[in-house]
Amino acid sequence: MTPTWVQLVYLACAVCFILALKGLSGPKTARTGNLIGAAAAVVGIILPFIYLDLRHVWLIVAGIVVGAIGGVVGARKVQMTQMPQMVALFNGVGGGAASLVALLELQERLTAGSSIHWFILAATAFTIGVGAISFSGSAITFAKLQELMTSRPVVFPGLPVLFGGGFIAAVALAVLTVTGPNMTVAIILGVLGLLVGLLLVLPVGGADVPIVISLLNAFTGLTVAAGGYVLQNTLLLVAGTLVGASGTFLTLLMARAMGRSVTNILFGALKGGSTLGAGVASDRPVRSAGPEDVAILLGYADRVIIVPGYGLAVAQAQHTLRELVDVLIARGTKVDYAIHPVAGRMPGHMNVLLAEAQVPYEQLVEMDDINGEFKHADVALVVGANDVVNPAAKTTPGAPIYGMPILNADDAQQIVFLKRSMRPGFAGIENELLFDPKTTLLFGDAKESLGKLLNAVKAL
Ligand code: TAP
Repeated sequence: MTPTWVQLVYLACAVCFILALKGLSGPKTARTGNLIGAAAAVVGIILPFIYLDLRHVWLIVAGIVVGAIGGVVGARKVQMTQMPQMVALFNGVGGGAASLVALLELQERLTAGSSIHWFILAATAFTIGVGAISFSGSAITFAKLQELMTSRPVVFPGLPVLFGGGFIAAVALAVLTVTGPNMTVAIILGVLGLLVGLLLVLPVGGADVPIVISLLNAFTGLTVAAGGYVLQNTLLLVAGTLVGASGTFLTLLMARAMGRSVTNILFGALKGGSTLGAGVASDRPVRSAGPEDVAILLGYADRVIIVPGYGLAVAQAQHTLRELVDVLIARGTKVDYAIHPVAGRMPGHMNVLLAEAQVPYEQLVEMDDINGEFKHADVALVVGANDVVNPAAKTTPGAPIYGMPILNADDAQQIVFLKRSMRPGFAGIENELLFDPKTTLLFGDAKESLGKLLNAVKAL
């Protein structure tokens, strides 16, 4: 039995996790929320060393040290744009660890020879299978986002049959683990889980991968919760449930923001339709201009709406953008940033990026609130964004982004794009707005272009 004082500390940690999630839901409280969650996790890790009679303590400590070094070095080195694959990696090892722990616990109980309640066996089988799915699936999402393999959907003849067969076999082995627990069956279940995870994620196209990461995150959460039940550890149970629930919500919100269903994201490519466009640079003529011309457009505008996107993060141009906006505001222009929920490559990417440049939070306006304002804007300045303003989302059934709500930049009097080339955005499809008579392109790296624009506006 776990001592009462330990249960109470676990309860306090669980409350801290909930407070952490609450804190993370707002930019002003996110840092504190993160610290509260991390502190509770540290307490949760230390506690078993105090109240349990652990074996192999030094091995465990060595594991913690290696993990902590990897985590700290990784987190410090990783670029903001690589955050999704970092999350995928952390999430994957979480699922894999839960799967291994469940296998070891089963072995322990089978060796002890005591009877095991069927519900514990069901939770064990779930942890082994789903944890393995989460591990291999996350490894593939990492490889796709890190460009260690193609980010396009990988499909081959027989994949649906192999996936379906693997899934059914895994369920059958899970049932066997409950009815007649046996280590060999449990290990094969884990291996099949790895195969199912692989086949689940291979057909997913690059633009959809962050949503799958969130889904696998939810899987890991549920796995850890089930593992917590098996180990009779309340904190694991609560923490896992929180991760499972928040991962599920995030998955559904992201899918909704992209106008897609989760099944379409997971199985769209299997039905024949690629979930990623062709990705070829267009050679159709467009109107381009130099920084001086664009500066005149901006400098004499009453209302400017900035549309930030992935390219702003790549160029790390958020500070220069903020400076430009400050100069425009000082000249009497009303300027807002239009925030699309899936601009960039991870949820809240633009909010985090602009917060880093200390952009006042009031200047960030969510899509639903700003969309009616574009028709009053003299200029929509699109900085490193593409898909989130692509009208194909409304006009072209069959386009990978069809159905995704977009920012109505096309309603503005003038549209200026800051990008380096005519290459498409992440969805890989042409953007008709680039060829609109109201559109001007300022080619170049966003940071350089914004620097030149800043000087030109100051010189007006
Ligand atoms: P994208 O459509 O990917 O467009 C990015 C643009 O930035 C491109 O036009 C690119 O053109 C330009 N760019 C890249 N580096 C640049 C640089 N250094 N300087 C200037 N421009 C640069 O981005 P978006 O509009 O933000 O849309 C996000 C996409 O990701 C959507 O398709 C969305 O569905 C997908 N997605 C997002 C999420 C989340 S949660 N945010 C999750 C899954 C998928 P050049 O190469 O010509 O410069």
